[in-house]
Amino acid sequence: LSKIEVKLSDIPEGKNMTFKWRGKPLFVRHRTEKEIATEAAVNLSELRDPEHDKDRVINPSWVIVLGVCTHLGCVPIANAGEWGGYYCPCHGSHYDASGRIRKGPAPLNLEVPYYEFPDEDTVIVG
Ligand code: FES
Repeated sequence: LSKIEVKLSDIPEGKNMTFKWRGKPLFVRHRTEKEIATEAAVNLSELRDPEHDKDRVINPSWVIVLGVCTHLGCVPIANAGEWGGYYCPCHGSHYDASGRIRKGPAPLNLEVPYYEFPDEDTVIVG
């Protein structure tokens, strides 16, 4: 299947769920208000791969990214690492709650796939 449909009300606030899409892990993260505020306030000069949070999300409550570390492709762990977003245990890459690389060997932010929200409770990725 080239597209995947996810029911958003199945994912509680503060949780990240992993789906399989086009043979890869797909993360759908329901951010907390605190995470939204923290990521929106990040100064781009702190970032290795500078991207504003608002350019990575459509709705700030939801982060949709590929669960593929941009170093060598391991699957990061959600809600872990020094920035509380994702942590890749293979060689120690830390990502924030926008999926942006903050520390470790990975060169780039977690990739944001094409997606849309056809209604309030649904995201379609692909
Ligand atoms: Fe993630 Fe190396 S594959 S840090």
